[in-house]
Amino acid sequence: MGPTKPMLDLERVRKVFDLSSNYLVATGGNYRDDPYPVWHELRAQAPVQAGKVHELAGITEDFFFHGLPEPDRPHFSAFSWDACQAIYRDDATFSSSPVAVDIKGGEAGVTNSLLSMGGSEHRRYRGLVQSSFGPARARWWIENWIEATVHALIDCFVERGTAELNVEFCAAIPVLTITSSFGVPVEQALDIRESLSRPDEILRILQPIVAARRDQPQDDLISVLVQSELTDEEGRAQRLTDAEILSFSLLLLAAGSGTTWKQMGITLAALLRRPARLQAVRDDRNLLKAAIEESVRWAPTDPMFSRWVTEDVDFFGVRLPEGSVMHICLAAANRDPQRWDHPDEFDLARPIRPHLAFGSGPHVCIGQHVARAEMSVAIAALLDRLPGLRLDPEGEPPALVGYYERGATAIPVVFG
Ligand code: HEM
Repeated sequence: MGPTKPMLDLERVRKVFDLSSNYLVATGGNYRDDPYPVWHELRAQAPVQAGKVHELAGITEDFFFHGLPEPDRPHFSAFSWDACQAIYRDDATFSSSPVAVDIKGGEAGVTNSLLSMGGSEHRRYRGLVQSSFGPARARWWIENWIEATVHALIDCFVERGTAELNVEFCAAIPVLTITSSFGVPVEQALDIRESLSRPDEILRILQPIVAARRDQPQDDLISVLVQSELTDEEGRAQRLTDAEILSFSLLLLAAGSGTTWKQMGITLAALLRRPARLQAVRDDRNLLKAAIEESVRWAPTDPMFSRWVTEDVDFFGVRLPEGSVMHICLAAANRDPQRWDHPDEFDLARPIRPHLAFGSGPHVCIGQHVARAEMSVAIAALLDRLPGLRLDPEGEPPALVGYYERGATAIPVVFG
């Protein structure tokens, strides 16, 4: 059980996680339709096609996302399970970055990090941190940071009998989990959230923590990073530099906070809109795992990631020139009828099978077990502490919105 006294200024949380500024128009935040019918049509036409996902779907606006806009390169998109899976598995032909990253010589930043590395360099760096994020470490995350964060947030609204779960709850949990695992106090965590587009400001907050942990390690993630040793190509062991640690920290904030927030909102919206299924989860908590897995399959928050083609290649009947961008529409693959029966249904009874919402292959989401732990601890705590939790009958029911970053609109609930 976490602290019983509220430790957060809820007004500030609301301001910092203002949805209108977060559902970035640039990634298609104003999109209100259901994108899946068109993705089904495109997959049925051909598994791989020339063009960008949104353009093929008839959207003429320019969007910015992983691998977009890149106006000087040819673009292709993959929609079937088999094609998307094949791209993820072949990182020699489909690279995660258009250019080689220079992590040793380069400056701290998300593009100069694990996400953009390839081959053996990526394996070495990932190997350093992998064990802190594995399923065996889920309890470390839960007991140190997730439970305390979840209960402190519920404390803020439990007496009220109403809440807006998307911002008051889902949004704050992932960023507070990651920043507290760095050793950042809550008030500064909100400073970090406000500064996501200004990495210099975040580095200013993190730099002294890195220095302090080098002197005196503690039981937290920055201490793990300062003590890690990387073995280079010649077999020499080296400690990570400050720039490497800061790049990785920025990547975790960028990759782990908005994604888990939106996916938790999608999961809660799906359950609250289907009261019989919410009741089934309330009665049998084992179903929560199925609900979370089904939510990420059925409506992944990031429906597309990109790769850069490293050589001319024939792929699913299409000639891909070297240097082109390949968009993996993993959301379409996650509803490929060749792999799933009644793919459009949010079905808690379907057998759990691997999906692509966390990617696949060497770059598969390193934070997936942390994300699952956050979502399951958070939703279980809501069900435990808020009796009769249901959508507010007076409020607007939540809808799923956005194109390349999807999430729920407000989730107004009542309880008690
Ligand atoms: C539901 C929430 C999440 C979703 C849907 C998600 C999705 C993904 C996907 C699809 C990728 C692969 C990207 C690619 O193919 O280029 C990825 C990579 C990554 N994710 Fe997540 N993620 C989530 C939560 C998290 C969390 C909580 C963390 C950290 C605590 C995290 C850290 C990362 C990192 C560091 C990578 C890069 C891994 C690499 O390049 O080797 N993610 N994520």
